[in-house]
Amino acid sequence: MTGTLAVRGLSVSFGGLLAVENVDLDVALDSVTGLIGPNGAGKTTTIDALCGFVAAHGTVMLGSRRLEGLEPHERARAGLARTFQSIELFDDLTVAENVQVAASIGHWWSTLLDLVAPFRSSRRVDVARLLELVGVPDLAAERPQALSHGQRRLVSVARALATGPRLLLLDEPAAGLDPNETVALAGLLRRLPATGVGVLLVDHDMSLVLDVCRDLVVLDVGSVIASGPTATVASDPAVTAAYLGNAT
Ligand SMILES: Nc1ncnc2c1ncn2[C@@H]1O[C@H](COP(=O)(O)OP(=O)(O)OP(=O)(O)O)[C@@H](O)[C@H]1O
Ligand SMILES: [Mg+2]
Repeated sequence: MTGTLAVRGLSVSFGGLLAVENVDLDVALDSVTGLIGPNGAGKTTTIDALCGFVAAHGTVMLGSRRLEGLEPHERARAGLARTFQSIELFDDLTVAENVQVAASIGHWWSTLLDLVAPFRSSRRVDVARLLELVGVPDLAAERPQALSHGQRRLVSVARALATGPRLLLLDEPAAGLDPNETVALAGLLRRLPATGVGVLLVDHDMSLVLDVCRDLVVLDVGSVIASGPTATVASDPAVTAAYLGNAT
């Protein structure tokens, strides 16, 4: 199924600071779109706003469904899943259990409910398939403490996929990955659209972003300064000046 996440006039303020300002964003659900920009540009805040974790103005449509005003778990049910810039896995659960608990819906209170009554309301997911898909097929029985930083990131992606999303919002999934893990992540990102999952990718690894994204949106100080096909945006002088020229 194809479609678009269409965002219009998204704004988020923290006190007097306008962290996201009148952002328009179209994310195709049949490809990978990059959301890039310097530190503090508003990328994480945009993901938070799309998922309902911070109050925002503006409209958010996932296909024909209006999401603004919905609670985070309702947006998750509608098809949005995200990962966090800092990885949050449950250390007392195995990798497989970490992925399985997310299937109920993938937000904290329902996850906590599942901890009280394990798998009570969970949709059973094929955990082995998800771990294979993200490139860590042998880790199902491990505890998160036994994993490398990169492996934990990949498991957090599998956990987000366990909610059965139409759009996956990834906040710096390549941070801390070694080169082999980054190659595996790139392969996964390329495969996901064919499985019916669109991706909005936030990352500072420009070779990864340029490699896997069909389209790019560039934020600077809370505003969109460029958007469109990757090759066009990447050669835009305003983008180079704001970001690509001094990417870390
Ligand atoms: N909870 C908050 N309270 C106040 N200000 C915040 C809060 N969260 C973010 N900000 C501010 O909003 C702006 C955007 O921050 P955000 O974390 O969205 O940037 P980012 O693009 O994700 O940056 P990075 O690449 O460093 O992760 C920054 O000025 C930041 O300091
Ligand atoms: Mg961020």
